[in-house]
This record gives sequence, C-alpha cells and structure tokens, in this order.
Amino acid sequence: MVQHRPHTTVVLAMSADGKIADVTRSPARFGSKTDKAHLEAQIAIADAILFGASTLRAYGTTLTVSHPQLLQQREQTLKPPQPVQIVITHSANLNPEMRFFTQPIKRWLLTTTAGALLWKGRREFEQILVFETPTAKIDIKAALQHLTTLGIKRLAVLGGGELVASMLELDFIDEFWLTVCPLIIGGSTAPTPVEGRGFLPKLAKRLQLVEVQTIEQEVFLHYLLQQPTD
Ligand SMILES: NC(=O)c1ccc[n+]([C@@H]2O[C@H](COP(=O)([O-])OP(=O)(O)OC[C@H]3O[C@@H](n4cnc5c(N)ncnc54)[C@H](OP(=O)(O)O)[C@@H]3O)[C@@H](O)[C@H]2O)c1
Repeated sequence: MVQHRPHTTVVLAMSADGKIADVTRSPARFGSKTDKAHLEAQIAIADAILFGASTLRAYGTTLTVSHPQLLQQREQTLKPPQPVQIVITHSANLNPEMRFFTQPIKRWLLTTTAGALLWKGRREFEQILVFETPTAKIDIKAALQHLTTLGIKRLAVLGGGELVASMLELDFIDEFWLTVCPLIIGGSTAPTPVEGRGFLPKLAKRLQLVEVQTIEQEVFLHYLLQQPTD
C-alpha cells in the first residue's frame, strides 16, 4: 500500500506508572544518559521532528544531533546535519525569546491561519505551514501529505500526549519507542504518552512488541502499530 505520509515513530520516556511529566508539566528530565542517547539516535534517523507547543513551552529547547558517529551517518545517507524541527500549534502562542529560536536548526511552524498571522514577516520559522479543516483545526492528514512532497520520509514524534493522541486517533502512527524509567511520578492530571479522549476497548489501538532491551534500570520497549485493515 502506498503511504501518502511520512513513516512516524513516537519516542517517549515515562515513569513506571506511565507519566511523561509531573503535574506541573515541568520538563521531563528523568531519563538516563542511555535514554538520551537512544532519543538522539532516533532523532538522527529522522528527516523531521514533530512536537506539540506545550512540549516546546516546557523545554524551551530541542535536542539536536551532536554525536560524531550519528552526524557521519546522516552525511553518508545524504541527510543535512539536523532534521527539520516542526512545532504544531493552533494558537502559535510561543515565546520568541526561547532558546529554541537561536538553536542552529531549521524550524517550521504547523499552524492555523490565525496562528500564522502571529509569525508572518518574522525570521524565526523558515516555513509556516497552514493546513486547516473547515472547523479551523489543523488538518493533519493534509499536512503530513504535504511533508512527503517536501522530502520528509521519516518523522519522529516527540510528544507530548496531546499531539500523540490526535495522530493515533487518525491512525497516523507507525511505531512507538517507550522507555520505562525507574521512578513513580503519580498525579491524576500528570500527562501520559496518550492524552485526548481515549479509546474504548474495542477501538483500542493494538500494538505488536518487536523489541525489548533492558539497560541498567531502564526498559526500552519498541512496538509497531497494527494498522486497521478496513
Ligand atoms: N517524557 C517525555 O519523553 C516527554 C516528551 C515530550 C513532552 N513531555 C512532557 O509532556 C508535557 C506536554 O505534553 P502535553 O500532552 O501537555 O502537550 P503537547 O502535545 O506537547 O502540546 C499540546 C499543544 O500542542 C498543540 N497541539 C498538539 N496537538 C495538536 C494538533 N493535533 N493540532 C493542533 N495543535 C496541536 C496545541 O498547542 P496550542 O495550545 O498552542 O494551540 C496543544 O495545546 C510537558 O510537561 C513535557 O515536559 C515529556
């Protein structure tokens, strides 16, 4: 089947109780150095990175590829040193003072007509992509289709839970990498890998476990999504 969208891989670290951040939604920095290296390796094989505005607001920055071997691997596969970093947001309400905007990377904004107005004529984003549904939501299907025409074949989706939920609802996720970290965060409002409205059991997204690695205190789970057969 020809896919008119990039191959998508979600990469997230979570606590043993399934939280990706604490109740204050502070930046999640509980993964080990090994987890950070794993994340960097996943970023290094992507043509573009996609993340939700709240993830950017929490971290203020994005992880870039810096390991010489990964940079070399990108060069050998004729990729630019860094994947494109794409922020998805309805509001486009982002602080231009964030360190993200001075990082040596290409930044694209995926937003609504209203959101685009806020950044028009500014230099922070190399591209502003507007794909809107009739209800002024972002048309993710059209946006992903457009990304393929721009040469984006592999997309790493780095959260947060709201973005992952919106893509899962549309069956636009192919793989999950989840790192289970040795801590309990708790909190009924602390974010999890998949937020949104959730799925009733019959409609729950089914996974196939393809790889498990335990490295010191962390477990790296690699799943493929079972795509609906319709
Ligand atoms: N542990 C980890 O690996 C990890 C990774 C990433 C993030 N996090 C944590 O996760 C938390 C953030 O996650 P979150 O679930 O709250 O938020 P999120 O998904 O990062 O961002 C939500 C916001 O992004 C925009 N957005 C997301 N999906 C969209 C869609 N389909 N269409 C249009 N806009 C969309 C909207 O921005 P606007 O409101 O501007 O319209 C929305 O309010 C932070 O605390 C962060 O530290 C943890």
